[in-house]
Amino acid sequence: MENTSALQLVRETDDFVASLIAQMDLAEKIGQMCQIDVAGEALSEELKARLSAGEVGSIINQVDVELVNEIQRVAVEESRLGIPLLIGRDVIHGFKTVLPIPIGQAASWNRDLVEAGARISALEAARAGVNWTFAPMLDIARDPRWGRVAESFGEDPFLASVLGAAMVSGFQGQSLRDNGSIAACAKHFAGYGAAESGRDYATTNIPENELRNVYLQPFHAAVTAGAATVMTSFGDLNGIPCTANGFLLRQILREEWGFSGFVVSDWDSVFHLKIHGLTADDAGSALEAAQAGVDMEMASTTYKQYLAQLVEQGKLSESVIDQAVARILRLKLALGLFENPYTEPEALPAYGNTQALDVARQTARESIVMLKNAETLLPLSANTLRSIAVVGPLADAPYEQLGTWIFDGDSALSVTPLEAIRRRVGPEVEVNFFQAMATSRDRNTDAFEAVAEAAGQSDVVLMFLGEESILSGEAHCRADINLPGAQAELVRKLKAAGKPIIAVILAGRPLTLTNVIDEIDALLFAWHPGTMGGEAISDLLFGDFSPSGKLPVSFPRHVGQVPVYYNHKNSGKPPSDDAIVHIDDIDANATQTSLGMTAFHLDEGFRPLFPFGFGLSYADFAYAKLSCDKQQVRLGETLRISAEVSNQGSCKAIETVQLYIRDLVGNVTRPVRELKGFRRIELEPGQTETVTFDLHTDDLAFFGRDQQRVIEAGEFRVWIGGSSEAELETGFSLID
Ligand code: NOJ
Repeated sequence: MENTSALQLVRETDDFVASLIAQMDLAEKIGQMCQIDVAGEALSEELKARLSAGEVGSIINQVDVELVNEIQRVAVEESRLGIPLLIGRDVIHGFKTVLPIPIGQAASWNRDLVEAGARISALEAARAGVNWTFAPMLDIARDPRWGRVAESFGEDPFLASVLGAAMVSGFQGQSLRDNGSIAACAKHFAGYGAAESGRDYATTNIPENELRNVYLQPFHAAVTAGAATVMTSFGDLNGIPCTANGFLLRQILREEWGFSGFVVSDWDSVFHLKIHGLTADDAGSALEAAQAGVDMEMASTTYKQYLAQLVEQGKLSESVIDQAVARILRLKLALGLFENPYTEPEALPAYGNTQALDVARQTARESIVMLKNAETLLPLSANTLRSIAVVGPLADAPYEQLGTWIFDGDSALSVTPLEAIRRRVGPEVEVNFFQAMATSRDRNTDAFEAVAEAAGQSDVVLMFLGEESILSGEAHCRADINLPGAQAELVRKLKAAGKPIIAVILAGRPLTLTNVIDEIDALLFAWHPGTMGGEAISDLLFGDFSPSGKLPVSFPRHVGQVPVYYNHKNSGKPPSDDAIVHIDDIDANATQTSLGMTAFHLDEGFRPLFPFGFGLSYADFAYAKLSCDKQQVRLGETLRISAEVSNQGSCKAIETVQLYIRDLVGNVTRPVRELKGFRRIELEPGQTETVTFDLHTDDLAFFGRDQQRVIEAGEFRVWIGGSSEAELETGFSLID
C-alpha cells in the first residue's frame, strides 16, 4: 500500500514536472538554473523585472522574511509560469542560536545531538523564509592550517559519514514538506579539504583510490541519507576543477550513487573555470560546467549569458538543460513550494527559544575536550573558593565565541564564560577579570606583569585563550598554528606567579600547544562553542557534568608534521617509540645509513601531541575482556565484538567507546587503524557495562586496485578503547 502511494507520488511528480517543462521556453528553463545574490537588499526594480521574466530559480542572502515573501510573490504572481524560488542561505552551525562549530559538534561524537542541532537551525532559518541551506560540509580535513577545518567533522571518513548523515536528517526532517524543514546541501564535492599546504582554494591532488576510500565516503553517506543537493568544490582536483569534473559529477554522483537531487556550483566557481585555465572564455566555462553536471550556477552569470546561445549553436543539448530543470523543479515540489511558497514566521518557534538554547548548551558541553588535568585540578569546587582570576582575550567576547560563518548569529544571545562563571559561583566568590590583551593576536606584553601579580592573589587562575572567530573559516588559513600573539608568554608569566593554571582554549582549529602544555595544569579545548559556550564551559569547570568530548582530529606537536592523522598507511618502514633518534643525540660526523631507519621526524618523532579519539573525563574508565564471538567469520556474516567498560572513578560520566580494526593485507595497502563503530555510554561510579558492536563483513569493504569495492578474505586486528591509541587488542579472520 505504502509502496503504491510512493510510486504514485513519483509518477505525479514526474508528470507535473514534465508538463511544466513542456510549457517553458529556453530562457525560462535557463532561469531556473540561475541563483542570484540579493545581498540582503530591498526588492529593486531590476530584481522585480528579472523575477517576473522568469530569469531566476533561486536567490541567496535574503533573510528578512517580509522581503522574502514579497520576492516569492513576484516570482509566483508576476511571472508567466508562477514558479516559486529556492531561498538559499549558509546555515552552517545555527541561525540566531549558534551551536558549536562543526568540528566542535564532531567532538561530541553524538549523532542525535548533531541531528537535533540541525533541526533547531532549520526551524530558526525557516522562520526567515530560508528553504535551502549549504550544509553539511563533508570535506575530510587533515590539515589544521586550513581555515575550513572549523566547518568540517574532522579527519575520519566514518565519523564524518555518521555525523553528516545526521545533519542532513536534522535539516530535512521527516519530510521536506514539513513546516521547518529545509533542503540540505552536501559540500564541497570533492576533495576540497586536501588543498595544498592547507591554503584554501589551492590545488588538490588525490589519487583515485584515496578519493574513493576516504574523501568520498561522507558524501556517499549524505546522498544515501537523502541530501537534496550537492555543491561542487572550488578546488582543482587532479587537474580538472570540480565544477567541470564529469568524473565526480556524472560518473560517481549520478551513475554510481544514483543521486537524484541537483548540483549547485560554489560561489562564482563556474566563472572561475576560466581563471583556473580550463577554458578560454565564459561561454566555455558555462559549457564545461553544464556538461559536467552542474545544474545551478551560484552567483556568477555565465549560464544566463551563454547557455541559450550554446544550445542554439548545437554545442549543448537542450536535454542537458531539461534534466537540470527537472531536478530543480522536483525539489521545489518536494518542499511544498508550489502549494505554499510563503512563510508565516509566527507558525514557527521563536528565535533563541528555550529548546534551542538547551540544545546549544548540551552540544557545547559535549563538544569540549579535556586534554589535561594534572593532579585532578578540575573540577573546581565553588564552595571552597574565595576568589577566581579570569584572564585572557576570549573570556568575555560574545561574538568571538560564536565561530566562523554565522551571518545571522545573534551575539546578544551569547553567554560568555565570564558571565556564566559569575552566575555559577554567586556573590560569595570574588571574580576578577583581566583581559590582558586587546585581541588574541596582541603582541604587547606591557600589562602582563601587573596582571600576573594581581591574578596570583586569587585562589585559582582561569585563562581563556585561543583565536577569534575570524582566524578560521573560508580563506582564513594559518601557516603557524601556535596560540597567536603573546598568549604563550602570558601563560608563562601567570605560571610564574605560582598558581596552577587552568586554560580554556576557544579556537576554530587544532592548535600546536607544545610550547605551553607543560605550563598549563588543566586544559579544556572548547573550539568555538557558540551561543551557550559560557554556560557549557562553566558546567564542566565546576563539575556539574564531566567532560566527554573526544578529538575528531589529531593535534600535531608541530606544524611541520602536518598532515598527521591516525588512519595513515603503515609504510615499509613504520616508526616505533623505541626506534627513533632525536636530533640532539646525533654524533658529529655521523654516517648516513638506511638500515634500521623509519618514517619519523628527527626533531618531533612521529606521534601527534594528542591523538584522534582522545579526551579525558573526571571519571576513570577501564577496558577489559575484549572478545569476538567467533574467530572466523564468513562473507555475509556478522561478527559480534564486545568489551567491558568500567567507571573506576567517583563521578557519573559519559565515555565514547571506539572500535578500530586493521585489515592486515589488501590488494591495495590498508590503513594502520580504521574507526568502524563508536558508542556513547553513561556510567555511574563503580558501574560496568559490556559494550557490543556488530560488524558485518560489508563493513570491511574497500576500494581495491581496480577501484571497485571489494571484501577480501584475510586476517584482521581489532581494538576497543577510549581513543585511536586503544591498546586492548584481539583479532579474527574472514574466510570465503
Ligand atoms: C562560498 C563557500 O565556499 C560555500 O561554502 C558557501 O556555501 C557559499 N560561498 C555561499 O555563501
